[in-house]
Amino acid sequence: MIRLCPSILNANFDELPNEIAKVARVSDLLHLDVMDNKFVPNFTFSFERAREIIEGSQLPVDVHLMIANADKEALPYLDTSAVSITVHFEACEDPLSLLTEIRKRGKRAAIALKPGTGIDEIKDLLPALDMILVMTVEPGFGGQKFMSEVMPKVKAARKWLDEGGFGDTWLQVDGGINLETISTATKAGADTFVAGSVVFNSPDPAGVIENLRQLAAAVK
Ligand code: DX5
Ligand code: ZN
Repeated sequence: MIRLCPSILNANFDELPNEIAKVARVSDLLHLDVMDNKFVPNFTFSFERAREIIEGSQLPVDVHLMIANADKEALPYLDTSAVSITVHFEACEDPLSLLTEIRKRGKRAAIALKPGTGIDEIKDLLPALDMILVMTVEPGFGGQKFMSEVMPKVKAARKWLDEGGFGDTWLQVDGGINLETISTATKAGADTFVAGSVVFNSPDPAGVIENLRQLAAAVK
């Protein structure tokens, strides 16, 4: 199954309900990028603001936490209605405990890997994961170029999931996904796609999502 998750990082933050409404009918999840200016050199939302967006969203929310000290700082998000919470492997001291807690609180538990982090680092975590996020840019900013050199990691993750009987675990890619790159990521084995600037810089955000979905479906 193909899932499309528009990222509002490049949307108009002052008009979020309108921006979300533009994509709601054709999207699976809303991808919310939380940045703390510590784990990444950019800041997006405080927890309070993120909570408002999560609770007000017409779409179920996939929260991507690019925040340091995730073992502690991710915990308030467990009290929101987010359906999926992604923490960075590089930001956790004890990822297994945090992922277990996320699941215990009824949310999908996901781990993200920066481009430089090897996939083998998370092999032991597989049974605790509902989604793996392989970053296809350095986290921090929208509008960057897709890193095709990360595709071997996506392929390795796909192989583990298929061969290990983890068919319910989603494999997400985030960064530089557009009408040219989505096929490459799908061929490597991704099934869940974040797309930011290509969607919200377009005059027809819903049309872009539909086109992306068709391109991915043509590969699957
Ligand atoms: C980058 C964020 C992405 C970003 C994607 O750190 O995690 O979700 O919004 O934006 P595009 O699609 O423009 O690369
Ligand atoms: Zn993201």
